[in-house]
Amino acid sequence: MELERLLRSQGFGSRPECRALICAGRVTVAGELCDDPYAEFEPVDGLPFSVDGLPLVVRKLVYLAMNKPTDYECSHKPKHHPSVYSLLPRFLLTRDVQAVGRLDEDTTGLLLLTDDGQFIHTYSSPKKKIPKVYEVTAKHPVDDEQIAALLAGVQLNDEPAPIAAAGCERVSERLIRLTVTEGKYHLVKRMVAAAGNRVEALHRVSVGGFVLPATLPLGEWMWLEAGDLARLAHVG
Ligand code: URA
Repeated sequence: MELERLLRSQGFGSRPECRALICAGRVTVAGELCDDPYAEFEPVDGLPFSVDGLPLVVRKLVYLAMNKPTDYECSHKPKHHPSVYSLLPRFLLTRDVQAVGRLDEDTTGLLLLTDDGQFIHTYSSPKKKIPKVYEVTAKHPVDDEQIAALLAGVQLNDEPAPIAAAGCERVSERLIRLTVTEGKYHLVKRMVAAAGNRVEALHRVSVGGFVLPATLPLGEWMWLEAGDLARLAHVG
């Protein structure tokens, strides 16, 4: 594949824009400067390249994990706060990376993003019952009855049947770790309210078997590599 097409496939703009980057000597491939936009490369996943010194590898599809901060909205058209997409570099936005489901503006923690439509479908599907673990800081001390109610199932407005947590442990007086397998609107807040308490802070720790690394600062993102994707898919 010609280098300008390869660069285009990785989100660096139109073919003329990519050609200009290459001709200006801003692109390397496999460690070598390449200023010929028509140079041929096999577009294999993992081929190293750089643009303006930013080291990257060719990826057919991209998978990211973000540590979402509060006061960011998971929308391209946010109403009250900036969008989580403003935390991504332009080449990922050009690739049309999308959040896998949404977190509320005041929720922090693990947000998956990808340009793989099938992945979004799989991880958003309620049928897959993918566990998502949240650390819930409650307004009031969480008592045994509330934990029992969350585990047994609570009746939410507009839902045909009670919804049960797949797991619920008390970490401290007002902090619980709650596992849910659905992705309904405000689900955790509504469940905790239905159990007789109130969510003060919500942080998503994991999806499937992938745990948000403690080293990833709020507002930052990381690539998900094959091992991370395998952990993500490991349910139960
Ligand atoms: N449940 C909620 O109530 N809010 C979130 O952001 C995620 C799950």
